[in-house]
Amino acid sequence: MAKEIVVSGIRPTGYLHLGNYFGAVRNYIRMQDEYDCYFFVADWHSLTTHPDTKSLQESVHRVIAENIACGLDTNKACFYVQSDIPEIAELYLYLNMMAYKGELERTPTFKDKVRQHPENVNAGLLTYPVLQAADILIHRALKVPVGKDQEQHLEMARNFAIRFNNWYGEVLPLPYAFNYGDSLTKILSLDGNGKMSKSANQMATIYLNDDDDMIRKKIMKAKTDNGPTEKGTPKPDYIQNLFSLLEITSRFDVITKFEDDYDDCTIRYGDLKKQLAEDMIAFIKPIREKANAIQNDKDYLSKVIKTGADKARASAAETLKLVRKAMSFNII
Ligand code: TRP
Repeated sequence: MAKEIVVSGIRPTGYLHLGNYFGAVRNYIRMQDEYDCYFFVADWHSLTTHPDTKSLQESVHRVIAENIACGLDTNKACFYVQSDIPEIAELYLYLNMMAYKGELERTPTFKDKVRQHPENVNAGLLTYPVLQAADILIHRALKVPVGKDQEQHLEMARNFAIRFNNWYGEVLPLPYAFNYGDSLTKILSLDGNGKMSKSANQMATIYLNDDDDMIRKKIMKAKTDNGPTEKGTPKPDYIQNLFSLLEITSRFDVITKFEDDYDDCTIRYGDLKKQLAEDMIAFIKPIREKANAIQNDKDYLSKVIKTGADKARASAAETLKLVRKAMSFNII
């Protein structure tokens, strides 16, 4: 039986951090065995907010290098760059004719961007969800691994597909947001303020590119308190977060020891942090080194990009042929 098709896009903005790893990359790596995966770098999307393209290629290379270093296997998943697939732009054009100004203006992500950058409210920003729908529908994907913040965009993609199918005939299957419910480890910022993110406090965000000393420094500065004084005290969020990080990076006996210490109220957060820092380094260092090596290997990168583009274009062209036929455009 043919595997289900999966699509997901990654914006090429900056380095990956632990939140990205556990929120997205790890799911991609899991999905690449079970599904027919198309993962891509959304470089066109970045134009909606970052019109300067001078460092874009480097950012694109970085994203590719980091994802491969984390375990994305380009022999299993198709990994490509959005701007290499002109078919997406054509589908975007058709879908734009089915997207209403009102619904685009009501999109929460659009409203956020308008608030953040009132000086650059371009039409591309307004139609960002249409381009995203084209990304997904061009491969007739069923599942789209994305975070909660993208669910609205997925609903819009479904609406555009439904409209297309109603007007021109059943061509596009409806895609749904997907996550492995059990593995939604939320990584919080180390200062206890919200999710770990690119825009949060930099000293509270661990990047896969941080060097060993930086990792140590960030973990040692993480927010803690005096520890529990009574048995059965629930862990505050920022302490639970340190335990979540231990669970991700440390050996079972290490985790158990600190869990027991917490239960006995004998826990020393300084010791926990030292151990966590070393385990985190052991986790990140090989990824960092591999990503740097890949980023410097331009021949390898261009091979990966070319292979991905060829496969993605073949799939995109098939869909576009059906779309054009349904719309009575010349079939080439
Ligand atoms: N909008 C997504 C984000 O901000 C990136 C993206 C672009 C995407 N096209 C996509 C995600 C298609 C899934 C499918 O993270």
